[in-house]
Amino acid sequence: MNDRIYLSLAHMGGREQEFIKEAFDTNWVVPLGPNVNAFEQALAEYVGEGRHVVALSAGTAAVHLGLLQLGVQPGDEVICQSFTFAASANPVTYLGGVPVFVDSEPDTWNMSPEFLEKAILDRKARTGKYPKAIIPVHLYGMPAKMDEICAIAAKYAIPVLEDAAEAIGSEYKGRKCGTFGEFGVLSFNGNKMITTSGGGALVCRTEEEAKRTVFYATQARENRPYYYHEHIGYNYRMSNICAGIGRGQMLVLQEHVERRRAIHSLYKELFGGMAGISVKSAPSADFDSNYWLTCIEVDPRVCGKSADDIRVYLESQNIESRLLWRPMHMQPVYASNPYYGQDVAETAFNRGLCLPSGSSLSDEQIRLVADRIKEFVTAD
Ligand SMILES: Cc1ncc(COP(=O)(O)O)c(C=O)c1O
Repeated sequence: MNDRIYLSLAHMGGREQEFIKEAFDTNWVVPLGPNVNAFEQALAEYVGEGRHVVALSAGTAAVHLGLLQLGVQPGDEVICQSFTFAASANPVTYLGGVPVFVDSEPDTWNMSPEFLEKAILDRKARTGKYPKAIIPVHLYGMPAKMDEICAIAAKYAIPVLEDAAEAIGSEYKGRKCGTFGEFGVLSFNGNKMITTSGGGALVCRTEEEAKRTVFYATQARENRPYYYHEHIGYNYRMSNICAGIGRGQMLVLQEHVERRRAIHSLYKELFGGMAGISVKSAPSADFDSNYWLTCIEVDPRVCGKSADDIRVYLESQNIESRLLWRPMHMQPVYASNPYYGQDVAETAFNRGLCLPSGSSLSDEQIRLVADRIKEFVTAD
């Protein structure tokens, strides 16, 4: 039996421990310090567009502090892509707001501009108020249709919080994901393009927003010689140790992006011409996905096997794969929230499977995964 093949593992570049050692040697073992500053600067340079980046304890914390600064308050509605991980929507609930879910369009699996506008107009008609913010997501690294989404957001003067947790390195029309919204969210969780073992960042447009983010992330402590609070704050700053890993990871980020793209191309080649299995790919050159995870769509009428049948078989072959995110409007916890759309996300959820895509995987391992799937699907 082959060694276990994982979906997406942490992949160290080799220099991470140098930065951690430096933190120990200089006793910067706290949630601020030279690694935090240098990691933030490297991220800001990487995403470009003059953005300011604040390193936080998680991507979820970044969603939370972005929404807080957009003024989301109890009872406010926030439009969120339904087809996503719960962390895109949960911070709306932390703030007492109500997520309103919108379906995806089939090209990218991301927020449907058509249903976004329908949702905005219908919420205004029903509640008398426009939603407070819009959260599109670049799922599996695939850029959402940001031109259309941002144009609709601007038309109704609703700010966008862009969830680029899975999309560091992805570009839409030559511009890095995370830089389109009023705020952008990045994640460095263990299975992402780069990791800090756990962590995230908020991409801000102005220095003032970045400073306010740091303020809220450090318990909203006012600048006085004693502890003094006028606002509720959080303990969300990234530690200087985690940021040391991040600094090392930044040195290999672009290599990781290129490797995941190469893995996607290889899967495409290996499944080329295979009836009933298609590899989800960018609809045009405008969408330059980092291909964080390569996903296939399985047509059970053609294959005679479902995506979940394949997942179970791969598991028996010591290969990890994963069903797609179950849309938020299909989650018990959000069952009574408003939803605008049809069945695009639901169909993708029913048919899709994420394949092993980590940047440390070899071509041989990718070929093995594809061979096992083909064997299973073509067996009687
Ligand atoms: C789409 C999406 N949003 C938000 C998050 C939250 O990031 P974190 O796990 O760093 O809190 C993740 C990943 O975990 C994600 O995939």
